[in-house]
Amino acid sequence: MQKKSVLVSLLLVLALVLSMVPSASAAPASAGMACAQTYTIAAADWLSKLSDKFYGSILAYWPLMAATNQKNLEDKTFAHIDNADLIDVGWKLCVPSKADAEAFLKTFDPNNPAALFGSGAKGQLVVGSWWTNAGEFAGLNEIFKQYKTQNPDVEIVNATIAGGAGTNFKGQLLTQLIGGKAPDSFQLHAGLEVETYSPGTYVVPVDDIYTSAGFEKVFPKDLLAMLKYKDHYWGVPVNIHRSNVLWYNKTLFAKAGIAAAPATWDEFFATADKLKAAGVAPVALGGKDGFELQHTFEDILAGTLGAEGYKGLWTGKTKWSDAKVTDALNTFKKYISYANADHDALTWAAATQLVIDGKAAMNIMGDWANGQFTAAKSTDYGWASSPGTKGIFVALSDSFALPAKAPNPANAKAWIAQAGSKAAQEAFNPLKGSICARTDCDLSKFNDYLKSSAADWAKDAIVPSVTHGAAATPKWATKGYADAVVLFATSGDVAKAQAALVAAAVDAGFPQ
Ligand code: GAL
Repeated sequence: MQKKSVLVSLLLVLALVLSMVPSASAAPASAGMACAQTYTIAAADWLSKLSDKFYGSILAYWPLMAATNQKNLEDKTFAHIDNADLIDVGWKLCVPSKADAEAFLKTFDPNNPAALFGSGAKGQLVVGSWWTNAGEFAGLNEIFKQYKTQNPDVEIVNATIAGGAGTNFKGQLLTQLIGGKAPDSFQLHAGLEVETYSPGTYVVPVDDIYTSAGFEKVFPKDLLAMLKYKDHYWGVPVNIHRSNVLWYNKTLFAKAGIAAAPATWDEFFATADKLKAAGVAPVALGGKDGFELQHTFEDILAGTLGAEGYKGLWTGKTKWSDAKVTDALNTFKKYISYANADHDALTWAAATQLVIDGKAAMNIMGDWANGQFTAAKSTDYGWASSPGTKGIFVALSDSFALPAKAPNPANAKAWIAQAGSKAAQEAFNPLKGSICARTDCDLSKFNDYLKSSAADWAKDAIVPSVTHGAAATPKWATKGYADAVVLFATSGDVAKAQAALVAAAVDAGFPQ
């Protein structure tokens, strides 16, 4: 018997189900199942063992879960099961008749795990995102709690698909949308990422929410410009994240006699050498989530080309054949040579964890890493702009969007409006490691890093992140730019990588 883990359990079951097949939402088939009997979980019970006992099949535990969750909505003496693998002694189950269970299994679609979670008097709210790490979920859960208080009759389904930067989520979501099996709302980066979902076909504008909530008055102009695509708003932003942050472990810096964070790439490598000499692993690098390498490289590009030069890469003003791009590639190659060799086996969160645990000294990562430091209650960390980027803020923003076929559109719209509210943003962002998208948040609720980020956002040159949906079309960002960078991380062939980056820009419509 395992212990209930409220925070992660729903994520786990959904991640499991969703990683096998695309998810969807529809009216839950559990609604009609009555309890033929109740059962109280005893030691050494497992749901599959119980389904074998009641229905003669170890695979028939889904109706037990669905019926119990549905019953829980009216009667809290029944359990709420987030994850079929995490149940506890003493929980009361609703056991439908064999006929009801079989009927449920006939229509149950594992692509539609929402059916397992019951439906309140006002239906469900299925929220799709890739926020499965500690700081990410902690933040999201704050908005869920607020939503639940305001909409007690709606059952919230947290439909996450793990994989940083949405590497797995985006493709699976598109399949769901095309198949007519949409969540009610989903995580969408501000910027050109919306093109992934054929705006107007699978995702619809939320201009009316901007009007009714007065959002044009509370979000900054730079961000509004990033959010507008073909004259419409497609998502309501919940935050502003910064891509170009160098995180470091203070104890390890002290151990190696390093007084200040490196500001330039020369200083960075000198620092890395000192750390090595002191027996400290200088750099933690991830790669398993499929975005960490291209993320690091965008920050190296910004630091090498400067704000205008970097921005120009995405508008045709800066040529990818520029000698500074060559410099950036050489710097990246050198950076990798200081990092853990197993970077392909580590997610961004695992790489951050190395810094938290004092197993590596530095890591370049977006400030969702601040959410991880906060969740781990770590105070032994410092930060700086990644080398060469002082005065530059490589920006991205998470928003919530509305699928054309959201099964519960009224609930979805209430959620999207709430994501833009002051209360939601003040509760979400301090845990997530981002600053508010709104301009009127109370900064005293934010930690020192976030206060510094807010100050920088107000005065820095703002440039768009390519890895997180803002700077380029999805095709260019992934097939062109990212593929070239990921290949380069293995091959180390600078000329070949630069030629591939040039070709990607040409392919995107920017003759070089
Ligand atoms: C980004 C996203 C952040 C964070 C990060 C790691 O794309 O905007 O909110 O979740 O990925 O998954």
